[in-house]
Amino acid sequence: MWSSTLVDDDVLLAGMVEDALAEGGYTVRVANTAVDGQKLINTNSYDLAVLDWDLPDGSGVNILAAHRSAGGGTPVILLTGHSSIADKELGLDSGANDYLTKPFHMTELSARIRAVLRTAASRSAAPRALGSGNEDLLRQGNLLGTRLASSYEFLQLLGEGGMAQVFKARHPYLQRLVAIKMLRPTNIHEHSIVQFQKEALALSRLEHLYIVNVYDFGLTENRRPFMVMEFIEGKNLDEVIEEQDFMPLRPALDLLIQAANGLAYAHENGILHGDVKSSNIMLKQVEGGKQIAKLLDFGLAKLSEPDKSENTTCRTLGSPPYISPEQADCRPSDERSDIYSFGCVIFELVTGYLPFVADTPTEMLAKHISAVPFSLQQVRPGVAYPERLQMLITKTLEKDPARRYQSMRELKQELSELAAEL
Ligand SMILES: Nc1ncnc2c1ncn2[C@@H]1O[C@H](COP(=O)(O)OP(=O)(O)O)[C@@H](O)[C@H]1O
Ligand SMILES: [Mg+2]
Repeated sequence: MWSSTLVDDDVLLAGMVEDALAEGGYTVRVANTAVDGQKLINTNSYDLAVLDWDLPDGSGVNILAAHRSAGGGTPVILLTGHSSIADKELGLDSGANDYLTKPFHMTELSARIRAVLRTAASRSAAPRALGSGNEDLLRQGNLLGTRLASSYEFLQLLGEGGMAQVFKARHPYLQRLVAIKMLRPTNIHEHSIVQFQKEALALSRLEHLYIVNVYDFGLTENRRPFMVMEFIEGKNLDEVIEEQDFMPLRPALDLLIQAANGLAYAHENGILHGDVKSSNIMLKQVEGGKQIAKLLDFGLAKLSEPDKSENTTCRTLGSPPYISPEQADCRPSDERSDIYSFGCVIFELVTGYLPFVADTPTEMLAKHISAVPFSLQQVRPGVAYPERLQMLITKTLEKDPARRYQSMRELKQELSELAAEL
């Protein structure tokens, strides 16, 4: 059964058109005013809308133009007493699929409805969004009318940063929850697309318990890249730290060992994360109330094969509170840079503070380059930390990469030995 909406203030005509639509196999929702019509067309997905041009409180052409500019793809037939060529041009240019001048014969309307339907079906260019009541979400993601929105039911916006939007969605047949990450509509340019592709490629090469799984990658009809990932039910590590102030050593070490394991695996497979920080680690809820660490956001990943686009310009990478001195200073970086940033996460998780404070990002970079980090005792004088933990942190936060742990595997081993001593 096809669905349609009809917006017409002429009750008699509306009744006749409604009958014609019903005969054509459509269910029909009728509105008699522009305000109601606008609401109907924008909050439901229809296979067809029939709009009257002149309405007591507005115009069908305006409804249509607003629908199209919001990305709406509903096929529309305009009914009108306006018969000049200029009016027809305006109606069609506003996005109407067909235009019928009053008075018209019902047989003609029925034939035109069938024609519009055939074109829409053969194009299948306006795939119907799955789910209902999520049009606002789709609009926010500029996803109305895309095949992606007809393949997954979009449920929620999980996160939105400067670069990307991440949605929670469900696959209708597999009943599987996924996270779909997309570049923001305002952030589509060559560099960001290349980097986004690199993120997906990096993740697809990594299959590990402590790294988010990627299932698919593609481009929408409006050429926005997207990535479909495993949905992680849980919180970001930074949220957990904020809620708990800081984490007791034993559970903290368990999670840090897992994350170090994931990073060691990535490094051993030639992939540097480039943006290690607590908001890029999630704690996934698993059975028995337990949690496991999952690394995500390989948005600044570097792949080990030579890449001509890199190192030609100095672009400060990473996030100022966690950035390594060499990244902050625009020098070449390797896995020891991730080790430094991970050191900042260790410090933050066990104390609730970062190893440096600064008023501005620039000052923060300068501190990473040349200031001495806080000690655990300085920020948490009331807590007794093992001496070996302080030594471990000091070594990860060395300014000179050569003085740090030389591999994530080595750091992971040290964390495990420390945990065994507790
Ligand atoms: N697979 C996922 N499952 C659940 N939530 C996710 C997933 N991926 C990302 N998120 C949420 O979206 C936020 C932003 O995602 P992220 O990949 O870090 O993008 P950005 O590059 O914008 O920081 C994350 O901090 C997390 O809260
Ligand atoms: Mg992130």
